[in-house]
Amino acid sequence: MTNPIDSLPFDGAISRYAEADAPKDVRQALAGDRDILDPDYPYAEPLAHDEYRAQMDALQIELAKMQAWAKSSGARVAIVFEGRDAAGKGGTIKRFRENLNPRGARVVALGKPTETEAGQWYFQRYAAHLPTAGEIVFFDRSWYNRGVVESVFDFATNTQRQHFFAQVGDFERLLTDDGIHLLKIWLTVSRAEQLRRFLKRERDPLKHWKLSRIDVDGLALWDAYTLAIRETLSRSHSAHAPWTVIRADDKRRARLTAIRSVLSGLDYDHRDDAALGVPDPRISAGPGLLD
Ligand code: ADP
Ligand code: AMP
Ligand code: MLT
Repeated sequence: MTNPIDSLPFDGAISRYAEADAPKDVRQALAGDRDILDPDYPYAEPLAHDEYRAQMDALQIELAKMQAWAKSSGARVAIVFEGRDAAGKGGTIKRFRENLNPRGARVVALGKPTETEAGQWYFQRYAAHLPTAGEIVFFDRSWYNRGVVESVFDFATNTQRQHFFAQVGDFERLLTDDGIHLLKIWLTVSRAEQLRRFLKRERDPLKHWKLSRIDVDGLALWDAYTLAIRETLSRSHSAHAPWTVIRADDKRRARLTAIRSVLSGLDYDHRDDAALGVPDPRISAGPGLLD
């Protein structure tokens, strides 16, 4: 079926995969259709809506204070959001920005490199989007494409990937030494939940734009992604630029935890630590969470 909105060739490939090709435990989890599909998720139920709302409202006020601080002090904040397709990067960034002044809270979501960009130093096109004084920049995917998707799909050679690992720590050191506040969030989603979200996107014409060939072809590449992600996290987790890994199967807990962990890492004026709370250690941790 060609969909009328963007005419991408979504021909039911995701449904067919879910019915026939997905591993048995994934098919069983989907068939159960519980709110939380992942047996290893630390809570049996998603966070209740009213609790989510109350916590989110308090955090939105803290975010507004953080932006006011950035503007008055000239701080530069760069927040990297990474994670598998459908992990919830876009939705999480949307919650961060909901009540911020868009002038000073930019999203950077770069597509595949142009021919010119492909010929440049790998970090160059990302460096062009780093924040200036007073700005918060949200990277919806980032230079970490080279460690994961470009590796899984052979868009980069192994030599290029090794070169990336050799440079990424120094690249990030230059940013943090220059005073940029760099925060790195990795959203982790289970295989069944990812597939459920893809199925929903396949059914909903308003979500088709979120689907691409990479998502469809990536279904069978789960294990290759897992290996690439582990290596990437372990080789880029540093004292100056550590990763925060967040379980994203429950979108509400994931969003709250992402905002908490970013705000906890910034010493903004009038921070209300009681309102901020602490990131839930069952939901967020270092890269060890994925072992
Ligand atoms: P997204 O999940 O960001 O909506 P996709 O799943 O289609 O987009 O692609 C994942 C990432 O892979 C994107 O950042 C995209 O720019 C990148 N990408 C796609 N094709 C290529 C390519 N040929 N070379 C390098 N990167 C690519
Ligand atoms: P969504 O795209 O957010 O509507 O979620 C897709 C599926 O994920 C739903 O069918 C829910 O069963 C499940 N889910 C994940 N997190 C939650 C949550 N916090 N509350 C309710 N359902 C959730
Ligand atoms: C999301 O916003 O749900 C994803 O992480 C983006 C994607 O599907 O690649």
